[in-house]
Amino acid sequence: MDWGMENRLAQLFSPEGRTQFLPIDHGYFQGPTRCLERPGETVAPLMDYCDALFVTRGALRSCIPPRNSKPIVLRVSGGVSVIGDDLSNEEITTSLEEAIRLNASALGVSVFVGAKYEHRSLMNLANLVDEAERYGIPVMAVTAVGKELEKRDARYLALASRIAAELGARVVKTYWCENFEKVANGCPVPVIMAGGPRTETDKEVLEFVHDGMQKGAVGVNLGRNIWQNKAPVAMARAIRSIIHDRADVAEAWDMYQELSQPA
Ligand code: 5RP
Repeated sequence: MDWGMENRLAQLFSPEGRTQFLPIDHGYFQGPTRCLERPGETVAPLMDYCDALFVTRGALRSCIPPRNSKPIVLRVSGGVSVIGDDLSNEEITTSLEEAIRLNASALGVSVFVGAKYEHRSLMNLANLVDEAERYGIPVMAVTAVGKELEKRDARYLALASRIAAELGARVVKTYWCENFEKVANGCPVPVIMAGGPRTETDKEVLEFVHDGMQKGAVGVNLGRNIWQNKAPVAMARAIRSIIHDRADVAEAWDMYQELSQPA
């Protein structure tokens, strides 16, 4: 592996290969998402408890100070909206030159396997990998399901993750699901888990993160279940303890409860 590629991956993953990305890219198709109306304010208290930010160029430039930031995974696909015709109809929105100017450590692009614009989204990934690899920049594929949240089972996510890896993604972000080992085992590159909409209870987040880590995930890219929590820092730190300190659910839950108490 070339030095630049290896160095960028080392910025994103611990020496054990684990990571906790903090995504704040949701506005690119759904506008001012709850608790992310002012991304800079959402991120500030969480910055010490993540390994990288997943963000668009617009939010990065306008909301994230360039000093004391974390490595950037730049979301470079989009061009759709939640009220538009079809969320899978994405194109690449940000040039490689711009990504380099922003000092991105990696690029993120969605793929919509089985959707109307499956082919377009998969070619977005393949073409982006061709370009980004020339400059030693890793590409993370996001296995997106649009509004069809019910698609998130092991069979579908394993299919989508494997296809993304075959097209050259260095990292795949997918959802946690029952039998997550089928997803991780079928994917030859590291897999990290997104959170999806808020879970019913706070403890469920810790349970699925722990389960996924036991079954082969190397980390998370978890947004709403952190920054929409009533105690975002407590939740970020509890999740971090599972990922980096190998805490079990009981230990992480204790940590969350203690840190979320009002002072
Ligand atoms: C949105 C994304 C998000 O990065 C991803 O869904 C993770 O965030 P959350 O944990 O809130 O689902 O790709 O387009």
